[in-house]
Parts: sequence; C-alpha cells; structure tokens
Amino acid sequence: MDDVVEHPSSALVAPGRLTIRGTTALAGVIGWPVAHSRSPLLHNFWLARYGIDGAYVPLPVAPGAFDVAVHGLRAAGFRGANVTIPHKEAAFAIADRLHRSAVRSGSVNTLVFAQDGTIEAHSTDGDGFVASLEAKGVDVARGPVLLLGAGGAARAVAASLLDRGMAVSVANRTTARAVALAEALSGDGSVPVSVIDWADWTDRLPGHALLVNTTSLGMHGGPGDVFTPDLSRAPDDMVVSDIVYVPRMTPLLTAAVARGLRVVDGTGMLLHQARLGFKCWFGVDPEVDADIQALFDADLAR
Ligand SMILES: NC(=O)c1ccc[n+]([C@@H]2O[C@H](COP(=O)([O-])OP(=O)(O)OC[C@H]3O[C@@H](n4cnc5c(N)ncnc54)[C@H](OP(=O)(O)O)[C@@H]3O)[C@@H](O)[C@H]2O)c1
Repeated sequence: MDDVVEHPSSALVAPGRLTIRGTTALAGVIGWPVAHSRSPLLHNFWLARYGIDGAYVPLPVAPGAFDVAVHGLRAAGFRGANVTIPHKEAAFAIADRLHRSAVRSGSVNTLVFAQDGTIEAHSTDGDGFVASLEAKGVDVARGPVLLLGAGGAARAVAASLLDRGMAVSVANRTTARAVALAEALSGDGSVPVSVIDWADWTDRLPGHALLVNTTSLGMHGGPGDVFTPDLSRAPDDMVVSDIVYVPRMTPLLTAAVARGLRVVDGTGMLLHQARLGFKCWFGVDPEVDADIQALFDADLAR
C-alpha cells in the first residue's frame, strides 16, 4: 500500500494534511539541534486553519553553517525563518535591517526575507510575553515588575515592559550581568532599570505588582538547583509569571498558587511570539485561541 496516496484535493481540505506545490510559501526554524522545536507544530496548524498555501519546516543548521544556510534559503525563495539556539547572535549580525525590538533586546529570533533580497530581523520574545499577559487580562501598565534573570530572554522581556512604561527591577545570580542589562536598557527615554541582589529578591517582593522568572531554574533538563522560593512577602494582588514552559506548572508557579497568587505560565509567550513571523511570511495575523493552546498542551504532555 506504500505507493497508494490520497488525491491531492482531499489533502487541501483534510485538517493536518499538507500539499506542497510550486507556489507554496516556505519558512522554517533554524537551530542546532532543532528536533525539539514546537514551532513547526504551531505554524503548520495555523497554515491549515487559515487555508494558506504554505509550509514550515525544521532546519537543522550546524554552528558555522548559519550564514551559508540563510543565504541559501533566501536564494531558494523562502519567506524567512525563526532562529533559535545557538544562532541568535549570528542572526543579529547577518541582518541588513534590525527592527527596534532586535536592537533593544540585543537578539534576533525572526528573520524576514524581503522581496528586494534584504534581510530584516526582529525579536518577538518580549512582545510575545506582554501579549501573553494581556491575553490573561493582566494590566501590563501596572508595575513595578521584579524580573529574575538577566539572560537573552530577560533582556527582551525587560525591553517590552519598559516600552509600556513599567518600572523594572532585575535580580540575577551573576550581578554583573544584571548591571549590564540595566545599563543596556536604561536611557533612551525609559525608566531606569534597578538591580537587586540575588540573595535579597524574596525580601524585596513588597512594592512589586508582577514577578517574572526568566532564568532556566525549574526547567525540565535545566539547572538541578531546588527552586522553591519563599513568596510569603508577596503582595496579595501580585501576578507571578514564569517563561519556562516545560513543565507548564513550574516550581515558582506552584509556590505562587500555594500562596494564593494569580499565575501566568510560559506557553502563552511561546504562542504569541510566533505570530509576527507568521504574519510577515504568510500574510495573516494568527489567533492564539483555545484550539492551539490545547494542541500545544497535548504535545507538551506527550
Ligand atoms: N516561553 C518562551 O517562549 C521562552 C522564550 C525564550 C526563553 N524561554 C526560557 O527562558 C529560559 C532562559 O532562556 P535564555 O535564552 O534567557 O537563557 P540564558 O541567556 O542562558 O540565561 C539563563 C539565565 O538563567 C540564570 N541561571 C541559570 N542557571 C541558574 C542557577 N542555577 N541559579 C540561578 N540562576 C540561573 C542565568 O543566570 P547567570 O547569568 O548567573 O548565569 C541567566 O540569568 C530558558 O528556560 C528558556 O527555555 C522561554
């Protein structure tokens, strides 16, 4: 039966089936490794949902081969690509045009190949995070926020929160990295970022409206350190968010729920950060709704 296939027309209407033609718009995710990426699942779900003639593929590209791969994809007619570890710095360097989001966050996760052959670069993590809060009805204009971590994701999240006028304090295990983040994002007309000692952050919870973990603490396969923070000093109306999404209920969120606080998990950020690329490559701003959340949850549970 291997040589029997369904008629192509049935593939057009059957959800989850993909038909590649000469006209099919192509995009993908570049990483190394990339097999763990959930981006193909999300984008191909949206392509089927909106009936778009497109396909989104995983693109395993080894370190050192990034520039060749990107120029090859562009020459082959791809619309663009998401970029993940370890290529986010190389993506910053290869761009002809950097969107303000990329400049502010110092990293790139979305490349758009323009019709004139140039490459435009965006960072969508920060706005994806803010959109995930808004989708849960969190008032993102209400601050201040206490941010744990000073890595790549922290800077993107901090930049988007600052852009919405929130005051941001950062605590990071390596203080010098928190200071560097504060220096990079202060100025430019925004509220200055303040730095809090890592050892003190639970004492400094009072006065903050939002607590966000952007460290990899609590992540499946991440640092082994036990992370069961004392949230007893958190204000009763504090919102707690964790951008780690494997597991979905992280130790921080579990502690927050036990303390009676409202929580927002990291899956919304992952779904919302994907929207801008999809819109640029395929022409539709996709909806993050219960269906895609359920698809994603089922995949995470496997
Ligand atoms: N939901 C989403 O869409 C989304 C998007 C992007 C990232 N993420 C997640 O966010 C996390 C961070 O990603 P990233 O790209 O920012 O990574 P990164 O640049 O490597 O930064 C890692 C951060 O975690 C801290 N950290 C690591 N081990 C620690 C430990 N044992 N104790 C205390 N702090 C520790 C680091 O502190 P030091 O500076 O002291 O090393 C640093 O602040 C990852 O789990 C990633 O999966 C989620």
